[in-house]
Amino acid sequence: MKDKIIFFDTTLRDGEQSPGASMNLNEKILIAKQLEALNVDVIEAGFPVASPGDFKSVETISKNIKNTSIAGLCRANEKDIKICWDALKFAKKPRIHIVIATSDLHIEKKLQKTRSQVLEIAVKSVCYAKKLCKDVEFSAEDAGRSDINYLCQVLSAVIDAGAVTINIPDTVGYAMPAEFGARIFAIRKNVKNINKAIVSVHCHNDLGLAVANSLAAIENGARQIECTVNGIGERAGNASLEEIVMALKVRPNYYNVKTEVKTKEIYKTSKLVSNLTGLEVQANKAIVGKNAFAHESGIHQDGVLKARETYEIMKPSDVGVTESSLVLGKHSGRHAFFKKIKDLGFNFPDKNLQKLFAEFKILGDKKKIIFDEDIVALIDESSKNVKEFFALKYLSVSCGTATIPTAAVSLSLNGGKEIIQEAACGSGPVDAAYKAIDRITKMDIKLTEFILRAVSSGVDALGEVLIKASYKGILFSGKSASTDIIEASAKAYLQVINKAKASSLLVKS
Ligand code: KIV
Ligand code: ZN
Repeated sequence: MKDKIIFFDTTLRDGEQSPGASMNLNEKILIAKQLEALNVDVIEAGFPVASPGDFKSVETISKNIKNTSIAGLCRANEKDIKICWDALKFAKKPRIHIVIATSDLHIEKKLQKTRSQVLEIAVKSVCYAKKLCKDVEFSAEDAGRSDINYLCQVLSAVIDAGAVTINIPDTVGYAMPAEFGARIFAIRKNVKNINKAIVSVHCHNDLGLAVANSLAAIENGARQIECTVNGIGERAGNASLEEIVMALKVRPNYYNVKTEVKTKEIYKTSKLVSNLTGLEVQANKAIVGKNAFAHESGIHQDGVLKARETYEIMKPSDVGVTESSLVLGKHSGRHAFFKKIKDLGFNFPDKNLQKLFAEFKILGDKKKIIFDEDIVALIDESSKNVKEFFALKYLSVSCGTATIPTAAVSLSLNGGKEIIQEAACGSGPVDAAYKAIDRITKMDIKLTEFILRAVSSGVDALGEVLIKASYKGILFSGKSASTDIIEASAKAYLQVINKAKASSLLVKS
């Protein structure tokens, strides 16, 4: 019988560590549900001790996902592990994932400990976690650069302590495929109790080798792969889930293993992750890039028309790419709209669908053709879950080549009980609007990042604004879309302000 490869998806944890990829709770739930539809085996939902927001998302995902294991990450200490368990304990299949570094570089410089201290902490932490949860995974951070004998000693000790998965991360993406494969082979050969645990790998992509290293590990006996959708993650990212899954599917005789991932859900998942994180997929990205199945040269087109296999090693439909996509417009009815929402992978209760349909009709009046991306932006806009201390009532800007950019803004406060208006000049219309808002909110918000992009094509495309800004040293993100980019900018800014206000109230109480 073929061995199964366990797919451990860390899009919501390591993926969210991609610069600019932070997601709100609703967005994380949508992704978790789609990962469940994709049928991955484990969803790493977050790092509960990192922030109240991370705790809440691991807790909510644990309560809402029924068929997939939910993992939470924690460092090797009792406080982290306890908080992680408090967030995870509602899951049908919870997994505590403990990490501590095992390379001398990390032990000496980062942890400022000795090898024997790290060994003792690792064992103690696994023993503690095991009292709370039967499924415990241990990660030896920077395992790719750890002394192999010491690494084997730690792995053997944590397996004795109860770890059922031992994860070998190439944390900094330094390993070469043959070398990494040999490391997995050596671990399987030298760790005496290795048969009591699943060997897992977690590869980063700093040299563009994360997928190659993961596949080399499978060839050498690794049976769990940690990866992310579209390969998003810290720095250059993690191993891309879709590339590994499809390599195993396209080359079954070479790998001789099986997976339970539903490949037809891949494209939908990729789209959802890219839309919700704002991290676009490069056109030539394997499997899910816009050009992955496009044949440009005449010779190739001719070959594909005669026999698809001449230039295509997999069918677009294998990964859920459909040939024709239903484009909507203002005359589209409820039925077409609801079907599109379903096809895009969303599953809403009826009352939310009716509200969305009304918003879709308003958009239809402003925009001739409504693309999938516009609908995802609409869903995103209406699924924000931020308490509105300040809401935009009115915004007017004047700008041009011979005018000083000026904005007049009116905000409602306390659920509409109070209305305040202000005006300001700025270096451009967005700057002027932000200054007018600042005069009303009187909060010292520092903008650190501002990204404006068209959600779909055409001059009437929805403009999406993603911003990051800090308040009292804490970073918040805001996102909004509208056919009017100044309005989207103001709303994204207000989202940050409302999040900052909510968190400062939380600190006071
Ligand atoms: O890259 C890494 O080492 C990690 C661990 C937490 C598994 O992300
Ligand atoms: Zn990582």
